[in-house]
Amino acid sequence: MTPSDSFPVIAHRFLTRRALLKGAASAALLTATPLSRLMAGEVEAAVPGFDELPFYSSEEPVHHVAAGHRADILISWGDPILPGAPAFDPFAQSAASQVMQFGYNCDFIGYLPLKDGAAAKADHLASGESGHGLLCVNSESTYPHLMFAGFADSDVAKANVTAEQIAIEQASVGHSVIEVKREGGDWRVVADSAYGRRFHASTPFEISGPARGHARMKTAADGGGTLVSGTFQNCAGGVTPWGTILSGEENIQGYFVCDREALAVSHAREAMSAASFDVKTNSSWHRTDKRFDMNAEPHEFNRFGWVIEVDPYDPTSTPKKRTALGRMRHEGATVVATDGLPVVVYMGDDQAMECVYKFVSARPYVAADPAANADILDEGILYVAQFADDGTGTWLPLVHGHGPLTAANGFDDQGDVVIDLRRAAKLLGGTETDRPEDIETQPATGRTYIAFTGGTERETTGPASPRAPNPFGHVVELMHPGEDGARDHTATTFTWDILFLAGDPDGEAEGKGVFPEGVSKAGYLVQPDNLVFDPAGRLWIATDGAKGIKSADGLWACALSGPERAVTRHFFSCPRGSEMTGPCFTPDGTTLFVSVQHPGYEKGASFDIPTSRWPAADGSPMPPRPSVVAITREGGGPVG
Ligand code: FEO
Ligand code: CA
Ligand code: CA
Ligand code: CA
Repeated sequence: MTPSDSFPVIAHRFLTRRALLKGAASAALLTATPLSRLMAGEVEAAVPGFDELPFYSSEEPVHHVAAGHRADILISWGDPILPGAPAFDPFAQSAASQVMQFGYNCDFIGYLPLKDGAAAKADHLASGESGHGLLCVNSESTYPHLMFAGFADSDVAKANVTAEQIAIEQASVGHSVIEVKREGGDWRVVADSAYGRRFHASTPFEISGPARGHARMKTAADGGGTLVSGTFQNCAGGVTPWGTILSGEENIQGYFVCDREALAVSHAREAMSAASFDVKTNSSWHRTDKRFDMNAEPHEFNRFGWVIEVDPYDPTSTPKKRTALGRMRHEGATVVATDGLPVVVYMGDDQAMECVYKFVSARPYVAADPAANADILDEGILYVAQFADDGTGTWLPLVHGHGPLTAANGFDDQGDVVIDLRRAAKLLGGTETDRPEDIETQPATGRTYIAFTGGTERETTGPASPRAPNPFGHVVELMHPGEDGARDHTATTFTWDILFLAGDPDGEAEGKGVFPEGVSKAGYLVQPDNLVFDPAGRLWIATDGAKGIKSADGLWACALSGPERAVTRHFFSCPRGSEMTGPCFTPDGTTLFVSVQHPGYEKGASFDIPTSRWPAADGSPMPPRPSVVAITREGGGPVG
């Protein structure tokens, strides 16, 4: 499609091609391989399926799940996770308590199996154990007016939070590791587990990759530029097959302040970075810690916006910031790994008019030995995607010395390229897209899906962005060279297509959705965000932003092949004020964990006058608490 194509032309072409594909799929039952069965939709047909959840409005007080399923609260903000942690008391919270308790605003969830009696990590990983594991959960952000009593709204809180409350906020972000077990059908958190861990705004992180020791990573507290205090704004992430968790530092600009004009005089590149990220604090952290003031400590901002890697199986391990993966508003990082081939990591930069990236490791993945892959993400080539109007695309290498990435343009070395990645990507010709959030690859076909959550900033259409503005987003399918089941993720070319354009198919004007026939009034979605695949190969899509159309955010299941391709079906709806994040299946698909982030986050709502006390009942004194929910099928079997 070309930028000049009108929206109806695009929609028509997209649906016509789909009809052709449908015919091809039914004619193409060539062999009975699992792959061809999957492509023909048989595998999806073999899973039980579910009766679609009805529509719920954004004012619905509680969560709902499709009939035949249970949705139980597993853990909430403030619940104890480290040995000796006190019970949560929102009226007497302290940083000393919070640092041992589950974090705020849960997001990405990764599940790593634990096998009873196994000593080696490889044995745990190979077990596929789906009733006992480590749950690794991001905590993205803080809302002090909902966390603490006494503040009418976020502005009042920002101006008045105490030093202790700032310390509580800083202890509540990052990432939590908990041990979970299913007994008698019910999931519970294992108390006082030796695996329990909190990574927060003061946890030491080693810097690895090309920015390690770089002049622009050095600060008063870290003269060597090798050790960062903390992680925050951890949004989505990925699980590696070598048993570690990747987590993206996203909206880092929210915790820094900057006088850009003053900074431009002494640190021109840092001032450009502040402008690119639109640094505009919505927090108070700079009041107690000067490192969050860019004019006082100009390099500290460079030390955030990375992908972190943690090893939950080793509670003594030092987490790392993998700078070879570049610096951006990292939504997440998802891995494709085949034994003997380079590891590929897909990443989106979630800001309007920013890009899609992938990293290809220098070394091959060693499936038999998890430890052999420990630092595999430190060396390789980072690429930015360039989409073309004709449905093709190219991965452009972000390598110092290549093309414009030279000293003449302010890139003295690869460290500068990864620190100022966005500027490098635009100079090369990376395509400006509509807020890429999660990116996931279907394990059976090897096709990759990108959730563009959309936005109103776009003024003209562009490759892979057929609507301007694009208020409700879309999902794009990437096909790498090769056949389904054997696609080459290391290649520098790809083709792409639009899976659907989000929005109400019966809607008007610019936000009208384009789905195949069969999508119900509860089944269409807006603003796709997190993605995950179930073991049957169905794509599950979590949303963030449905409140804009007065509908509840939630989770939808979407077939990718057969006659139901791109038909989304409503499965879970969130309580008021919250968005849906972190969907994660156990290996056998019998449990689906989800995060309910920022329940009760609404205009006019505060700790003292909440519009929701979810998951507590009305009448409870508790504030609303972000929580992880475990979804299972009544009577057992795969979820959904
Ligand atoms: Fe944290 Fe882009 O969502
Ligand atoms: Ca997100
Ligand atoms: Ca995901
Ligand atoms: Ca989002």
